[in-house]
Amino acid sequence: MKVGVLSGGGDAPGINAVIRAVVRKGIRNYGYQMIGIKDGWRGLLKGAFMPLTLETISGLLPRGGSILGTSRTNPFKREGGPQQVLDNAKENGIDAVVVIGGDDTLGVAAKMGELGLPCVGVPKTIDNDLGFTDYTFGFNTAVHIACEAIDRLHTTAEAHHRVIILEVMGRYTGWIALEAGIAGGADVILIPEEPFDVEEVCQNIKQRLERGKAFSLVVVAEGAKPEGAKSIVYGTGSDEFGNPRLGGVGYYLGREIEKYIDIETRVVVLGHLQRGGSPTAFDRVLATRYGVAAIDLVHVGRFGQMVALHGNKIVFVPLKDVAGKRKKVDLELYEISKIFSG
Ligand code: F6P
Repeated sequence: MKVGVLSGGGDAPGINAVIRAVVRKGIRNYGYQMIGIKDGWRGLLKGAFMPLTLETISGLLPRGGSILGTSRTNPFKREGGPQQVLDNAKENGIDAVVVIGGDDTLGVAAKMGELGLPCVGVPKTIDNDLGFTDYTFGFNTAVHIACEAIDRLHTTAEAHHRVIILEVMGRYTGWIALEAGIAGGADVILIPEEPFDVEEVCQNIKQRLERGKAFSLVVVAEGAKPEGAKSIVYGTGSDEFGNPRLGGVGYYLGREIEKYIDIETRVVVLGHLQRGGSPTAFDRVLATRYGVAAIDLVHVGRFGQMVALHGNKIVFVPLKDVAGKRKKVDLELYEISKIFSG
């Protein structure tokens, strides 16, 4: 049996750990031939492959990025794209594909499965917004990085008596902002799920000033929007799945705060630092468990499924159920975070 592996969408720390687990168990336990598909679905459209052997995966566990590369290519946006994917898989003798991705990449896997390409999915995104799994790998690492940034920004904000706004990733959901914000003791946390009121944000900062706290730390998810407005975009374009390129809400907020309060404000956009580099131990273990479970699914021929984490158990959910169902933040946790505002 020949099994392909691909990673699509934004990278996330732990992709290489998944690849390592899939390939190691695939070769050592099942005697499969493994093949890497380059740059997500683009590799199957163009026929771009690389060998995956026990040598290739050596040293991969702590490595960030993806040795396969990634892209946001959508075969369904190209004339004849899905057929080309099927033809390339057939010509190269690929019997099944382990697809590592978020909502968009796994959505394509679900549809390609219906067209006859046997796929299993592995949930990946630093945003943690994929439905039917408690955690996607990569999220824990992003939270750690954002939390460390908050800790560092706290000391400089305090020394200079400033407001510092940290803009973190989170296009549609505020998981990173919320968990890193709670862990770092942020004074205000703003998420896409609840549009914010600038006056209320200023009120929190003023309350702190009144009790002698001359600095404040605000964490804002890039997709957070002011009440009655849309998310703030960096450019007008969108990717092949229709996702906008967000960015700028931190600067918007910084200007607004300085309009209403006499306090110096600085803005830090954490950006892709949240996605780069080595995964945390938690993500390495999760990615390893996901990879092993995915190749086990291939072995028993249960295609059209995604591996998932429920509690501390690995379970399987139909890929077709996952696509398009965004997992929003736990609003109870958001309420808890508000105890520490102001
Ligand atoms: O993969 C999710 C994500 O990290 C979002 O949080 C963010 O909006 C987006 O990717 C950024 O993508 P790009 O790599 O295209 O800038």
